[in-house]
Amino acid sequence: MSNYPVIAIDGPTASGKGTVASLVAQKLGFHYLDSGALYRLVALASEKLGIDVKNAAELGFLVPKLLISFNNNQILLDGEDVTDAIRTENIGLRASALAVHPEVRTALVGLQRGFRQSPGLVADGRDMASVIFPDAVLKVFLTASAQARAERRYKQLIAKGISAKLSDLLQDLQERDARDSSRGAAPLVIAEGAKVLETSDLSIDQAVKTVLDWYQSVIT
Ligand code: DC
Repeated sequence: MSNYPVIAIDGPTASGKGTVASLVAQKLGFHYLDSGALYRLVALASEKLGIDVKNAAELGFLVPKLLISFNNNQILLDGEDVTDAIRTENIGLRASALAVHPEVRTALVGLQRGFRQSPGLVADGRDMASVIFPDAVLKVFLTASAQARAERRYKQLIAKGISAKLSDLLQDLQERDARDSSRGAAPLVIAEGAKVLETSDLSIDQAVKTVLDWYQSVIT
């Protein structure tokens, strides 16, 4: 593992960690890893190939065969732009279902660690601090109430012109929370030494500032 600093930001679905993490990365000029996107890519690719989400072995074999590239804000899978296709609720649920398999998680470790490059990395996910970058200089557990997260997701979907029902979204995210937190392999946990950031009543700017202040305090 290289010595470039890593800020690990973990948290439940729709907590805003992706937005906060990418803004923190921008401010610091660091690379950014959206690890959830990798699980979503496996979900999309395996769905296209008709692989069952329970078929751990085949899913594990699939991972090294995928041609994934992150191009500014675009995500390509085998040369195809799938930036929007991986963001649907269906793909999110499928990603959560296949993320329970150690075969899938292990196959994604090297890819995730490869993002640690000069001058540093901000990584967001569920197990960034606990498994992928246990030596992260700053570990943040970013969360918000289920209601606040469902409302955020609702607004995002409506803004994109996608119809949605708040009660369905709340139920989906509670289902994902339960599965992501209770699985045996790398469950969503507050890592030892992680600072908890409750964002239900914080703006994005306030959350970003808090993480940047914490980072300054650990490196000085
Ligand atoms: O962060 P997200 O909603 O895009 O992630 C989609 C799913 O991928 C999430 O429900 C669980 C899984 N995931 C994971 O198991 N570990 C990660 N580091 C990131 C995501």
